[in-house]
Amino acid sequence: MTAAGNIAEVRGGRLTFEGIDVAALADRTPTPFFLFSPRQIRWNVETLRNAFSRRHLDTEFFYAGKANSNRWFLRQVQATGINIEVNAGGELHRALAAGFRPDQIVFNGVAKTRHEVRDAINAGIRAIIADSLYELERIADVAAGIGVGKVAAVALRVDVDVPTQTHPGMATTHGGKAGIDLADAGQGFAYAAAQQWLDVRGLHCHIGSQITDAAPYARAVEVALDLIEAAERVTGCRLEFLNAGGGFAVPYRRVVPGMVCDAADYFCSTVQPDDYAAAICDTLRRRRPDLKLFLEPGRAIAANTAILVSRVENQKVKRVRDERGNVIGEERWLAIDAGYNTLLEHCLYDWYYPAVVANRAAEPPAGAFRLAGPLCDGGDRFVGDDGTDWRHFPTTTGVGDVVAFGNTGAYTLEMMQPCNAQPRAAAYAVDRGEVVEIRRRESNDDMVALDVGFGPGSGGA
Ligand code: LLP
Repeated sequence: MTAAGNIAEVRGGRLTFEGIDVAALADRTPTPFFLFSPRQIRWNVETLRNAFSRRHLDTEFFYAGKANSNRWFLRQVQATGINIEVNAGGELHRALAAGFRPDQIVFNGVAKTRHEVRDAINAGIRAIIADSLYELERIADVAAGIGVGKVAAVALRVDVDVPTQTHPGMATTHGGKAGIDLADAGQGFAYAAAQQWLDVRGLHCHIGSQITDAAPYARAVEVALDLIEAAERVTGCRLEFLNAGGGFAVPYRRVVPGMVCDAADYFCSTVQPDDYAAAICDTLRRRRPDLKLFLEPGRAIAANTAILVSRVENQKVKRVRDERGNVIGEERWLAIDAGYNTLLEHCLYDWYYPAVVANRAAEPPAGAFRLAGPLCDGGDRFVGDDGTDWRHFPTTTGVGDVVAFGNTGAYTLEMMQPCNAQPRAAAYAVDRGEVVEIRRRESNDDMVALDVGFGPGSGGA
């Protein structure tokens, strides 16, 4: 996804974000914090819309709410007019609260509870996306229990068994946990079509996240259309939509013009929305122009809308010794106030977020550092640039400097957790030049507020 113009710029040697001097903001605001651009959210939605709608007019976007379900963020997405995909009852609740109409919501998930299914049917959402043959029965049973003519609109999520080259944690087909096995799809459609409590509307085939090659989408659509046509022959029903899911990749590594990315390096992507649109729509238009296309982008809408701002709190040099204790080198370490409590994926998946020193943004990044977070775990250290162990910053970088990570708008706020009782970070947005708070920093009281049953004399219940 491209940037909406000059969102992050170096001015007078300092990083600015939407015109705000990032290091100066960090001097008056406790770090770490996220800083969002609403303009970039709108830009991302428009870019996707343009790419797809000119190839297949009947395209509907369902923003994958799991990427960022902060209430302010959802309001921004809702205001663009697109729909939303949810993955749990909590996300359904947030989507409705943010103003999405029930017919703008689809519900995925590999282990939906009866309670969640009931809430989704009662709300009257666009489609519950069934993840297994068992789940179809569960949905039918819950709908029958509600009665009063409540029919559940459903789609079948099918594992189209198309290999992808993304991070193993992001892969969902060809060995992944999600979806109905390819060989069972026909049985699923036949079952769903025969149930009076189910209204089967489509097929869903999300193939994973951060997919740095458009070709697997073309294959997935071919397989999905074969299944749709077979299902229509057997059931005599016409399906309304093909949901090709999300997964459009974001260039976490800095991509310069002419650069060729290896699809196996999933942090590097030159694939553009147009490439995904061509892969998906060309096949669809050729074979089934009557079908609606649903898409569920999350990362492509949220990732480049935010930076994470942190501060260096410690520095040291550590010697590297061989097995006989001889010093064979040394390493410079920097420890910042954001670790996997704030950017969980940097440890969970060794995710790479590019970083710059905001108050020295024009100095050459000539120094090599090990970069660590504040947590007690030895594993709380950041992967290096370009597949190395090292982060490259100006040579004199040290305590007090402000480190800003890019591309941190997706799957970050969602996954923060208060490890070591570190407060979860605040988030701000720059709206027409003003910095507004969109999530407050957690307090020590917030962190103990859910603890109960610790007995009399401790000041609580
Ligand atoms: N639809 C379904 C059914 C999904 O499971 C996902 C993501 C999406 C759409 C949106 O995919 P996207 O366009 O954002 O790639 N925590 C990980 C990401 C996990 C993605 C899970 N599913 C991370 O931080 O990268």
